[in-house]
Amino acid sequence: MSESYNELMKKFDEIKNRLPFVPKIALILGSGLGGYADGLEIKGEIPYSEIPEFPVSTVEGHRGRFVFAYVEGVPVVMMQGRVHLYEGYAAEDVVLPVRLMKLMGAETLILTNAAGGVNFDFQPGDLMLITDHIASFVVNPLAGRNIDRLGVRFPDMSEVYDKKLRELALKTAERLGISLKQGVYLQTAGPSYESPAEIRMYRTLGADAVGMSTAIEAIAANHMKMRICGISCISNLACGMTDKPLTHKEVKETADRTAEKFRQLVSGIIRGLGEEYGA
Ligand code: HPA
Repeated sequence: MSESYNELMKKFDEIKNRLPFVPKIALILGSGLGGYADGLEIKGEIPYSEIPEFPVSTVEGHRGRFVFAYVEGVPVVMMQGRVHLYEGYAAEDVVLPVRLMKLMGAETLILTNAAGGVNFDFQPGDLMLITDHIASFVVNPLAGRNIDRLGVRFPDMSEVYDKKLRELALKTAERLGISLKQGVYLQTAGPSYESPAEIRMYRTLGADAVGMSTAIEAIAANHMKMRICGISCISNLACGMTDKPLTHKEVKETADRTAEKFRQLVSGIIRGLGEEYGA
């Protein structure tokens, strides 16, 4: 069964009185940025477990809550912990938090993740600005009855990752002396990593990085006409590109090592957005 607007609003009604402010930006904290909120003065939080029928992450190390804080003077709602298709949730459950953050008032979405590098020019520890995505191998989160109040039945996808935001991200990286690669992110369902043959296929298809999140969240946000920025931490080279087997430990270690640079970049982008909002 696909979600109706009324069901969505019922969930929003459960949390709307707990918001400390109207957020301007929604930020999804992927692997490596899980500690992003720790250095901020937190104005409010809503654990996912306190929201009825909310998908709760089962992945170790993913704390599940909405966190509200000012970042560089801008009111931001953060998702500390996201849910994934590989946990067994339907695509529309995976994008529910994005929809709720839009209902809270956020017009801009910053998506972050850890991803495997498919492009031979990438190194573990690189950051990659997402220029576009390939979501053809996962279920579309808009399948089912369209929620007309959120967006149109057949949304245009010609510029999901906002050009002005990309320019801001590149300018911010340059100002901070952070090298920022650019490329196409391909989402798989997971949870197994890819086989070497799949990685060769994905490279042929134009992918630069591969991961298990983000693209369907971007599809749902684009449906609601949010402005979207996506950044991947390249936590490893994809399967078959080195002799070593791939482990979640390696992914986590590189993401943790890259966290400070990632934090600086994301905060710098929010600062730039704040100047635009006059925050
Ligand atoms: N593949 C898929 N998802 C990932 C990877 C990968 O190599 N690294 C981090 N998330």
